[in-house]
Amino acid sequence: MSDMLQQTIGFIGAGSMAEAILRGLVERRIAEPSRLFAVNRQDAVRLAELRDRYGIRTASEPAERDRLIREADVIVLGMKPKDAAAAIADLRRLLRPEQLIVSVVAGLAIETIERLLGGTFPIVRTMPNTSSTIGLGATGVSFSAAASPAQREIGLTLFAAIGEVCVVDEARLDIVTGVSGSGPAYIYYVMEAMIAAGVEGGLTEEEARQLTVQTVLGAAQMVKTTKESPRELRRKVTSPNGTTHAAIELMEASGVGETVKRAVLRAAERAREMGDAIAEQSLAHGKQVY
Ligand SMILES: NC(=O)c1ccc[n+]([C@@H]2O[C@H](COP(=O)([O-])OP(=O)(O)OC[C@H]3O[C@@H](n4cnc5c(N)ncnc54)[C@H](OP(=O)(O)O)[C@@H]3O)[C@@H](O)[C@H]2O)c1
Repeated sequence: MSDMLQQTIGFIGAGSMAEAILRGLVERRIAEPSRLFAVNRQDAVRLAELRDRYGIRTASEPAERDRLIREADVIVLGMKPKDAAAAIADLRRLLRPEQLIVSVVAGLAIETIERLLGGTFPIVRTMPNTSSTIGLGATGVSFSAAASPAQREIGLTLFAAIGEVCVVDEARLDIVTGVSGSGPAYIYYVMEAMIAAGVEGGLTEEEARQLTVQTVLGAAQMVKTTKESPRELRRKVTSPNGTTHAAIELMEASGVGETVKRAVLRAAERAREMGDAIAEQSLAHGKQVY
């Protein structure tokens, strides 16, 4: 990435996901800190922290906050799903239809954002994951029809700053949530079990942890570096009647693979349910406000 972004980017919501993106943009020199700003609902200490840490602009005084939002080229929605309807409805009076809206809010549909804003906007809807906070995120990204090629590029740049990006149509963001959005927790779960087994077998907690963490890191890196499929790599390390064979045989007999598959699909289904609930809540909110 040679050219820095020339757009002014405002973060509405200054939590951990906003900070992950901010940090990626600043540390990788993708955007000038002076072109970035963050606002939140009330936490002035948090804004000062971000200002000191990254040199970005912040605003807690309402007139200044409104001015920054009006003048921004890109607005990133970074609040919790439960706060999104109220926050977006409040932005309606400030935004112009050419401003690019980027959302990291889980379950918040493009249609719902447009309903709350009262018109068609270029929108980038995303599903990042928690590893974004260390620059190793996996983010699913989809675009509204109004997003121009240049605006799509900006959206991709923001998330490439915190990891890898996969473009999908909006309907498939639910399965992205199942695979990578909730994915880190599945791996943590397996790691917990490996550590517990290590301790039961005689390792100290620290030894079991060290070996497990490096094993998971190495396994992911092997798939990435060799470009071989996990199945092929597994086949290579599984000698007949060996230790790995014995372990995998037990996992197969217990239906572990099938359970993981069902768990991913259940998470995707749950994402759909939660998205429907947000849409309903925003409809109620719309009725209340307008
Ligand atoms: N963290 C992750 O790994 C992850 C992964 C995927 C998706 N996401 C999505 O990212 C979003 C943010 O998550 P987070 O963990 O960063 O949340 P967080 O740390 O709780 O931060 C939420 C921020 O939103 C602000 N806010 C709330 N209402 C607002 C309003 N009306 N106007 C302006 N700001 C408002 C809060 O301000 P105050 O503190 O002043 O109230 C706070 O700065 C969520 O929607 C989540 O679904 C997160």
